[in-house]
Amino acid sequence: MSIRTALSLTDDTLIGETSSSEYSAEGGTPTFDRIPFRVRAGQRPNLNTFVIALRQDDDNRAHYGRIIAGSELNLRARPGGMQKDDAYGMRRTDIRSSELSPDLVRVMEIELLGEISIRDGGSFEVTEPTQLPHTGQPVYELPATIIPKLLNIPEDERELDKPNSASGLYLGRIESGGHSIPFFLPNSAIARHIAVLGKTGVGKSYAVGVLMEELYEKQIPMLSFDVLGDAEQTARELNGRHIVAGTDDFKIPYSIVGLEEFLAFIPNLTSDQRELIASAYGNIFDEALDKLEKGEKLNIPFSQLTSLVEDIGQSINSRATTNAVRRVQAAFNRSSLLTDQPVTWTELLEKSTLINIYVGHLGQWQRNLVVGAAARILQRLRRRNHIPPFVLVIDEAHLFLPGGSDLPPSTLVLREMIRTARHDSVGVVLLSQSPSSMDRQILLTCNTRMLFALDPEDLRVVAGQIGDLPEETIKRIPRMARGTAVFTSGMDIMRHAVIVKIRERTFTTHVAETPDLREAVEKWHKEQRTN
Ligand SMILES: Nc1ncnc2c1ncn2[C@@H]1O[C@H](COP(=O)(O)OP(=O)(O)O)[C@@H](O)[C@H]1O
Ligand SMILES: [Mg+2]
Repeated sequence: MSIRTALSLTDDTLIGETSSSEYSAEGGTPTFDRIPFRVRAGQRPNLNTFVIALRQDDDNRAHYGRIIAGSELNLRARPGGMQKDDAYGMRRTDIRSSELSPDLVRVMEIELLGEISIRDGGSFEVTEPTQLPHTGQPVYELPATIIPKLLNIPEDERELDKPNSASGLYLGRIESGGHSIPFFLPNSAIARHIAVLGKTGVGKSYAVGVLMEELYEKQIPMLSFDVLGDAEQTARELNGRHIVAGTDDFKIPYSIVGLEEFLAFIPNLTSDQRELIASAYGNIFDEALDKLEKGEKLNIPFSQLTSLVEDIGQSINSRATTNAVRRVQAAFNRSSLLTDQPVTWTELLEKSTLINIYVGHLGQWQRNLVVGAAARILQRLRRRNHIPPFVLVIDEAHLFLPGGSDLPPSTLVLREMIRTARHDSVGVVLLSQSPSSMDRQILLTCNTRMLFALDPEDLRVVAGQIGDLPEETIKRIPRMARGTAVFTSGMDIMRHAVIVKIRERTFTTHVAETPDLREAVEKWHKEQRTN
């Protein structure tokens, strides 16, 4: 069976033929990376359309790729000629008479992605490009239905009234030619981590809301750390929980925060006091880690620490003892974050939905503490299989995972957890408007990127890790529309990078509207008057 028959390529989808010119303005010559083609009169293929270019010598094999550039050459529109016409008062009326004009050529460039060959049974095989494309060969728009096969991503199973796939997450649509097909991110992408990057207001949180809807439908538990309150509404709509850190629903066991973090709760210690508390806390911390390993409750009472401080102090006859005990006690009383009660929020993960932990009201040091301690708890519990596999979502991830050295220990705990998450069947989704200030190593750990419009500086940081995107497409990323993202991933997850229009959310609402300041001021004045 020929490619033409197997893919039902018809004259309607014939958009041009491959060309060759020594001038780059005319598209240049075919190479192993690019194929120029002359566009047929009347055809208007869109940018990014997936196309196929046939070969002269083999009916069963063809090159496929997508349109990444184009130009129109019109001998009647040469600026010098137009100027002359105007100067002599004889402006031509037929500069672009029709696309059949002998003076008009439209050339487009195909980014060569690979080759398709048809096997005897009619199935096809997709491989890397190995052959030099031929000139003068027909170029067709690819039928939308085979795009998932080329990308090696799940296809629509459509048992329901909306696009659906057991092996993929329906996040948006791919547009090619005049068609649009659903885009399913393979489930396998989740445990290999996802970075969602883009400027403020381009649709990162919205898109993660879409992802959450899909994870919810697949009954994958999620835990999110929320700085802006974006996911509060979503958590409620998904029958999840919105928890404010520092309230009774979410405190951190003091025994697990680690020495340096714990000491920071007790400012201005003398070195004697510090030494005493440190050696007592060391014991408590070891016991807590041990309990975590065994999946036991973290319920080491505060009084155990204070008595330990007292015992150690007395055994070495330290004069700092009384004050050290008093300082520890005062710190406990003051802090709304620390507790000696066992954690209960981890049990919520079993009920398979979204737990949204709000940390927006806390200072950054406290936020790090919360996230770091939670990471430490989650990692151990997961490793011992005490909690189910889950997805961890961190918005404004650059705040929690900054680049550079000299970082607080809680940051290192989170970093370590993410590095090993894959082995523990924990998926990580990181959102950031500022990848350039994020930890590089962690960015690299994220196999899948959802790139929204990014500033050129941030784009440079990720550009090297984007995979097979051509320069033309990368250059367009800063100007991409809100809600449009480039997806790139490892070859084994998705064969090529692809541009996706994020779908609308169906059963959750996004509440973070970007405020119109003029309207906001007007509203404020109105409220003042009525009060
Ligand atoms: N795919 C989309 N469809 C419809 N509206 C969107 C989409 N993506 C973003 N928006 C709108 O754009 C605004 C900004 O999106 P948001 O996700 O909050 O941006 P970011 O998290 O990148 O700062 C939101 O008010 C949202 O309603
Ligand atoms: Mg956001």
